[in-house]
Amino acid sequence: VGKNTPPRTLKARTVDGVAQLIKEGRAKKVVVMTGAGISTSAGIPDFRSPDTGLYANLQRLNLPFAEAVFDISYFRNNPLPFYTLAQELFPGKYRPTITHSFINLLHQKGLLMKLFTQNIDCLEREAGVPDDKIIEAHGSFARQSCIECRKPYPRDLMEKAIREKSVPRCLEDGCGGLVKPEIVFFGEQLPSEFFANRHLPEEADLCIVMGTSLSVQPFASLPGFCTDSTPRVLINQEQVGGIGLRPDDVLVLGDCDEGVRKLAGALGWLDELEALWAKT
Ligand code: APR
Repeated sequence: VGKNTPPRTLKARTVDGVAQLIKEGRAKKVVVMTGAGISTSAGIPDFRSPDTGLYANLQRLNLPFAEAVFDISYFRNNPLPFYTLAQELFPGKYRPTITHSFINLLHQKGLLMKLFTQNIDCLEREAGVPDDKIIEAHGSFARQSCIECRKPYPRDLMEKAIREKSVPRCLEDGCGGLVKPEIVFFGEQLPSEFFANRHLPEEADLCIVMGTSLSVQPFASLPGFCTDSTPRVLINQEQVGGIGLRPDDVLVLGDCDEGVRKLAGALGWLDELEALWAKT
């Protein structure tokens, strides 16, 4: 921290303390990290919540273990469970939540340095967050390709396969490999842009983590890359990832839509946020 950089320590480890930091112009490079918990109120189940989480509701697919549905070696042997589920996960029929709009509002106020999301539902995009501000660490349904020769697969044929719950195969002569949306399965590498931007939390002056269990690496390491002088705010139903252990960590435990409304209220942005969300 340079000699003339005002100390960013919070006056209070509360929502008001965070709002104060932003209002005093001491937080201008906000990094946001999100997971499935910010889309549950849009109607998309998260993965690990007991009872409601996706992994608690896959019995009908007879998987050896729940995460097999997103495991690349299991997919190679048996792609059907994924394609049975894909229809429910395919984007297009869900509306962004007020939490997605809050991220867009941070962008509109010139405060969003980068959003790292683990979600594949593209709701951040739909809420208006521009492409250059989003790192989709676990890929998305935006593109699909052959897992053997990497040849891109036509979008209309993918949508047809998803609708008919059929398994699409590569069109390349002599290949015939399995086609998969470019979402990152267990056993696959994250996109290179994740690694190219992984240093950004070190440069952030405020970190907001929302709706994630921080249980999957390497994404889960991101909040730890923030320096000690960068306050980290966790807006989540449960405390996760060791957030809360540092002097300037702030825990806003509970529903994330309520948490962002509380923070927007403390910032004086609540009407603006509700109006922005009403338009999505
Ligand atoms: N408000 C606040 N927190 C919520 C809400 C909500 N409405 N709903 C769920 N949560 C919290 C849960 O308590 C949990 O801590 O969000 C977190 C969701 O955790 P997971 O279900 O594990 O989802 P996520 O962290 O995104 O999973 C990471 O695992 O399966 C892989 O690749 C997949 O990207 C996914 C990764």
